[in-house]
Amino acid sequence: MDYLITGGLGFIGSTFIKYLLNKDVDSRVIVLDSLTYAGSLENLQGFLNQDSIIYPQRHEELKNIVVHSNGSGLAKSIVGLAECDKRIEKKLANCIVRRPHDGNIADDINEIFGGPSYYGRGASRLAIVIGSVCDRSLVSNLLPMCDLVVNFAAETHVDRSIMNPDEFIKTDVYGTYVLLEAAKKQDTLKKFVHISTDEVYGVATEKSFSEIDPISPRNPYSASKAAADRLVYSYNQTYGLPINIVRPSNNFGPNQYPEKLIPVMIIKALNDERLPVYGDGKQIRDWLFVGDTVEAIDLIVHNGTIGEVYNIAGRNERENIMVIKEILTRLGKPETLINYVKDRPGHDRRYSLDDSKIRFQLGFKGSNSFESNLRDTIDWYVQNRKWWQKILDEDIEYRKFMEQWYKDRK
Ligand code: TYD
Repeated sequence: MDYLITGGLGFIGSTFIKYLLNKDVDSRVIVLDSLTYAGSLENLQGFLNQDSIIYPQRHEELKNIVVHSNGSGLAKSIVGLAECDKRIEKKLANCIVRRPHDGNIADDINEIFGGPSYYGRGASRLAIVIGSVCDRSLVSNLLPMCDLVVNFAAETHVDRSIMNPDEFIKTDVYGTYVLLEAAKKQDTLKKFVHISTDEVYGVATEKSFSEIDPISPRNPYSASKAAADRLVYSYNQTYGLPINIVRPSNNFGPNQYPEKLIPVMIIKALNDERLPVYGDGKQIRDWLFVGDTVEAIDLIVHNGTIGEVYNIAGRNERENIMVIKEILTRLGKPETLINYVKDRPGHDRRYSLDDSKIRFQLGFKGSNSFESNLRDTIDWYVQNRKWWQKILDEDIEYRKFMEQWYKDRK
């Protein structure tokens, strides 16, 4: 099977790819990833051949417009694009990068997959294309090369969506639309699997939500994911596109970008900094280990009934403060580091999923051992300081966000 995996350099996408390449020796993967702040080539360390990265030169024309513009709104967004290219170039600094012009992407991918010098080696089953899911021309060149699409590409951090929803609408909604349009034209496509989120249901006051419950998102992130989720469904109902929609609960595990609760708290505790707990800290999340998520997604890819939505739950509902205290205990740090701060606006009090459908219909089991998975995750961050220290030291975007968001939460 040939996969197109969007967002494959992010946390869950990269974990899925590693699982897939290990498990399924016949699979080949094309990654489409725009290498935003949250993506990292290091997430695929050990699987990546130096010569497997393709960065099509698609923005030259736009960059030129900047030179000739007079600072209009349009120019500003193009300047933004140029900035983003600079960030990508920095992340690619130590790599050998193929830079084809638009039409030659397929040639490069074929060479990576079939080139004689790589034949039979793991990395020849993985090609990384640096680009956006919003890029219609790029996406339409890639779709004919795959049997399956798994769409992980998304802006995912609620706090960022509160500060600036723009990228969420672009990537999560419009990007999904671009993929769907290209997929619609691909008669041979076996399945389009879209990764949605439990957050589309909104707050679970009493019961746990099952797939037939109405959706009721309450922040710009979950609203943009809900729009994409329903758009994917509409392409099944209207055009007969073979889809599945996956709604996992809060993920955690190694390689999670340090803006989400668990890595933020681990890193701050390791650095003896205060831990910012929103509101009373009694909000509830259902924690799902990323290793379980990718197993469930694999089950859905192969056995999910076309057109269906599947929840994936961790079955580990915990108050935030309980999770934070466990982290402190594991690291031998004092609870005096806990700092209750101003709450997140529109903060969803509880998420809760009923995932009996995937368990009964597809036989998903899940490891269901939150405490030991959390311990392993904490240990991973202790042992892989280099991975996250680089983000803290070098990622200007990260520092800017952390400063801005937490400055009112001291
Ligand atoms: P997060 O990891 O951002 O996931 P989501 O909001 O998508 O569920 O946050 C998990 C919970 O932890 C959520 O209730 C907000 C809370 N939280 C804090 O209390 N402090 C923090 O610094 C962060 C990042 C999250």
